[in-house]
Amino acid sequence: MKNSSAIGCLACVLIWLSGVQAVAQSSKASTDPWWKHAVIYEIYPRSFQDSNGDGIGDLNGITQRLDYLKELGVDAIWIAPIYPSPLVDFGYDISDYQNIDPMYGTLADFDRLMAEAKKRDIRVIMDAVLNHTSDKHPWFIESASSRTNPKRDWYIWRDGKGPGQPPNNWLSIFGHSAWEFSPQTNQYYYHCFYIQQPDLNWRNPQVESAMFNMLRFWLERGVAGFRLDAVPTLFEDPSLKDEKVLPGTDKFGDPNESRVLQENLPEVHGVIQRMRAMVDTYSGDRVLIGETYLPNVEELDKWYGGAKHNELQLPMDMQVGFEPKLDAKEFRKRINDAETKIQGNQPLFVFDNHDNPRSAYRYGDGVHNKAIDKMLGTILFATRSTALMYYGDEIEMPTTEPTSKEQVKDPEGITGWPKEKGRDGERTPMQWNSSTSAGFSTNPQTWLPVAPDYKQVNVEVESRDPDSMLNWYKKLIALRRSNPALHDGNMTMLESGNEQVVAWSRTAPDGKVVVVACNFAPEPQVVSLQGAGKTARTLAASGRTAQKDTVSLNALSLPPYGTIIAEVK
Ligand code: NOJ
Ligand code: CA
Repeated sequence: MKNSSAIGCLACVLIWLSGVQAVAQSSKASTDPWWKHAVIYEIYPRSFQDSNGDGIGDLNGITQRLDYLKELGVDAIWIAPIYPSPLVDFGYDISDYQNIDPMYGTLADFDRLMAEAKKRDIRVIMDAVLNHTSDKHPWFIESASSRTNPKRDWYIWRDGKGPGQPPNNWLSIFGHSAWEFSPQTNQYYYHCFYIQQPDLNWRNPQVESAMFNMLRFWLERGVAGFRLDAVPTLFEDPSLKDEKVLPGTDKFGDPNESRVLQENLPEVHGVIQRMRAMVDTYSGDRVLIGETYLPNVEELDKWYGGAKHNELQLPMDMQVGFEPKLDAKEFRKRINDAETKIQGNQPLFVFDNHDNPRSAYRYGDGVHNKAIDKMLGTILFATRSTALMYYGDEIEMPTTEPTSKEQVKDPEGITGWPKEKGRDGERTPMQWNSSTSAGFSTNPQTWLPVAPDYKQVNVEVESRDPDSMLNWYKKLIALRRSNPALHDGNMTMLESGNEQVVAWSRTAPDGKVVVVACNFAPEPQVVSLQGAGKTARTLAASGRTAQKDTVSLNALSLPPYGTIIAEVK
């Protein structure tokens, strides 16, 4: 297909509208829950806006930036953990679930943020870390204190196989054994993540009850829902059999192992069903979002409760946005899977978060990064999916990895250096303007250094550039809100003979059709979407060649990695 532009229309490939039939989702916007059409914006609170000059972002900083988020078109913010924490895992190790870490502010600051967000019709979603606590949480301190402590069974304690030998070969996601010996009671405890993050024992009903009470505390404070951290890891196989050892070693130098005894055990679905029933007793369409890295769409469907729709409303689809290569065929298949294989549930695509190098870094070719990023934005906002974005995506913030082990803040990067550099690279401070610390803080010393490109890549500069990523995001988000087909329309993948172009249509309740086409190649492509009509009015187009206002659907030109969204006339 690489020469298709050179041979012009002869190489045009028809995209047959009679192609893949996606499940139609007909809905009335007015009765839909808010999250179905939402743009959800993930805030990594340490890195978004510092309000008190200590070089660390905080709640009052988020409040100061709500007008910006409103203007961008955000419906909800998900804030990564802000609870008291020893900060080994920067907040994912919680020592008190019902308070705010003083570094981020107070409960009063939180309430003010909620009230200011509400004024702007922005909802607030909390991060619920259910799998583990901090080892400094009073529950764990009690549990570790003696084998007969009433909280002993709140965590997973076992004898070793022999002196110095853990109970089995299970590995932590952050490297090395998942068991830590505690000399206080001569037993090991299990930790799926860092040593300082002991796993709770979800087979003990008291744990479920304590955690549900914690969720109620925040629901009563008015939060719109939760993002459930690492939720497939809640249960482990009670047999404690060894995991199967696979060939080779991982980035930490440990043997590769399967994780089937440690993750995604069926028992978790009972907990989620009960949690959903509890959350549904609150008014206002509270939402449960899952951090669900799963092997395939069939597994993903289970997290919705399949056709029963009684589990999470929005388990994250990591199939599309974390597909390893920018491959049109794979993307087409995965987008279509999300339309056809989740039994009428609502997809939630995710391209970026605080745990992975940003998508521009993962998919960029060094030449067309901006066009590629605009194309990914098109997939995020112009499919039927609820859109989850990460702070800084809208300005194409870079991924800035540490260059030496001494600079690394994320412990994973210290254990794994140099193969695994940790997650500092995607957590650098938000770039607001060209002033000190990019406007993130008045302090020139910030908890992670500001990325060196901040004078060119920032909100202020990009606001003035009509071709910027920021203005592309604003345009797509506004279109998604105002155009009935993009807001609420059914989605049908258009089968393309052109391997390089992924295309789909959205049909509004009134029958108006919008077509979307994305060129996954570094060469221009010409395609035909003639089954949809003869001509269309361009709503948005990206790439170097400016699209005309009216385009012929018979021969639609797409520049390298270009995309077009057009309403059929
Ligand atoms: C997933 C979170 O996103 C990540 O940042 C954290 O380290 C682990 N879960 C453990 O809580
Ligand atoms: Ca601060």
